[in-house]
Amino acid sequence: MEMQEIGPARLYLADCLDVMAGLEEESVQMIWTDPPYGNRNNDGDLNASLAARTGRQAEPIANDDAAGMRRVVEGMLAHAVRILPKEASALCVCCAGGGGPNGPLFAWLANRMDAEGLSFFHCVIWDKINPGLGWRYRRQHELVMVAHLKGGRLLWRDPKKAAANVMPFSAPRDRAHPNEKPLALVRRFLDLHAAPGQTVLDPFMGSGTTGVAAVELGLGFIGIELDPRHFETACRRIEKAVSQGDLFRAQEKTRPSQTGFQFPPNDTVPG
Ligand SMILES: C[S@@+](CC[C@H](N)C(=O)[O-])C[C@H]1O[C@@H](n2cnc3c(N)ncnc32)[C@H](O)[C@@H]1O
Repeated sequence: MEMQEIGPARLYLADCLDVMAGLEEESVQMIWTDPPYGNRNNDGDLNASLAARTGRQAEPIANDDAAGMRRVVEGMLAHAVRILPKEASALCVCCAGGGGPNGPLFAWLANRMDAEGLSFFHCVIWDKINPGLGWRYRRQHELVMVAHLKGGRLLWRDPKKAAANVMPFSAPRDRAHPNEKPLALVRRFLDLHAAPGQTVLDPFMGSGTTGVAAVELGLGFIGIELDPRHFETACRRIEKAVSQGDLFRAQEKTRPSQTGFQFPPNDTVPG
């Protein structure tokens, strides 16, 4: 198991079930994750088209077969129940399709959340704006299943704010990972649920999109990835986000006020 600390992020090159087993109770307030889909996208067009663009060989995604996905998602949910506090949010992406041995994926996932000790709360639609590939129905949306602990409350940063449950964001063009999610989509979810200083966990972090969003929003982050290629990409992306934040803060400190006007000290204000 390799671990790197980059700014507010702790990143593990490891199996998430091993790392989550060692996390303390109530140590993260939010989980946002995007596990393998379990439908062998690795054999399909997504990975092949990425390979064609980057010149790399199409390589399989770990646990992207139905049984592998079931094992790691069920294990992740069981650990989630232990490490989340009573007021917490657990969000998990899943595709709208499915069938075969797992049944409809969204129904399976909502049921597993409930069975493992979470309480399914809502299903949000990520609208990709343009349809992708598909047989009969071309895929234009994915689902984000939202849950909290059974008997607990959903962590929601600003109780005065509500959000539409359809979120339109284009898929990223230059993907470093075949399943990479739009940064703006992940940022939107993190910003709705978590407040600066709280910690977000992504047990299947892929290219580190959640980590970048967390750093940009002033959140702590724990990310886990099994594949060394994607782990490396995640480290580089999160490093860049941390150094951009440092640069921005340094510029803010040295920037003169917008008008150049400064209030005189109180005792010199003519009375
Ligand atoms: C759907 S992708 C996540 C993509 C990510 N959201 C992004 O924006 O780049 C799922 C990732 O989970 C990783 N994975 C599969 N099984 C894992 C496990 N047991 N522990 C940690 N990571 C795992 C895969 O290698 C893959 O990169």
